[in-house]
Amino acid sequence: MNLILLGPPGSGKGTQAKFIEESYNLKQLSTGELFRNAVKEKTALGHHIQQYMNNGHLVPDEITLDVVLDTIKRLKESAGFIFDGFPRTIVQAQSLYERGIEIQLVINFIIDLSRIEDRLARRRICFSCKREYNIKYQPPKELNICDRCKGELIVRKDDAPNIIKKRIADYQGLTHKLIAYYREKQILKDIDADLPIEEVRLEIKNILDPLVREKK
Ligand code: AP5
Repeated sequence: MNLILLGPPGSGKGTQAKFIEESYNLKQLSTGELFRNAVKEKTALGHHIQQYMNNGHLVPDEITLDVVLDTIKRLKESAGFIFDGFPRTIVQAQSLYERGIEIQLVINFIIDLSRIEDRLARRRICFSCKREYNIKYQPPKELNICDRCKGELIVRKDDAPNIIKKRIADYQGLTHKLIAYYREKQILKDIDADLPIEEVRLEIKNILDPLVREKK
């Protein structure tokens, strides 16, 4: 089973992808994470894409598709993918379709846009193991120290307030169009992403459990 998590920046896609990965034996494929790794490792790809990311713009479709298709090939033994942050454009969605990569479900995270800045300004990420925290909603036990690996917690470069605005604008201009695209295919389910993390998790479980039972 392949599923897509669709929603604006900070709507909780990454947080819930981790839960789905652990509970349903699916593999998270986060384009944002793949891109951030490339930047951190200073690869040629990382060098090329960091200007887009640091300015809050989407990485061009052809680069994104190369990275995603290559990752799918490498991980093909997995039971299915949770596409987190991909596709972001109609071109990316059509490319999945043309390659016969079937999507069974799209979960659409609906959030009041005024909440996004509040969440992202407080997001912290472990520099070493990438675990995510939120100093208000999901705080680490010790200030700025990762519970899991004791690594240093840092702020994502693109979580600066002016960049968050650009990311939201890109979502409204481009990614938002995917809602109609997938609704027409009748595989899109809306969830209320304004709720606390545990309640959003329950909404997802209520959607996924019947689907998993059907597949058995
Ligand atoms: P990406 O990493 O995908 O960023 P994004 O979509 O902007 O999403 P975020 O990671 O910011 O938010 P999220 O929805 O995952 O929320 P999270 O769970 O972390 O992409 C980064 C960049 O890469 C893009 O801007 C672009 O440049 C490039 N890129 C990526 N994919 C691309 C593509 N397909 N095409 C082209 N370019 C691409 O939660 C956020 C915070 O809120 C956390 O602190 C969390 O603890 C907290 N939180 C989560 N849920 C809740 C809740 N229910 N209540 C309270 N707090 C919560």
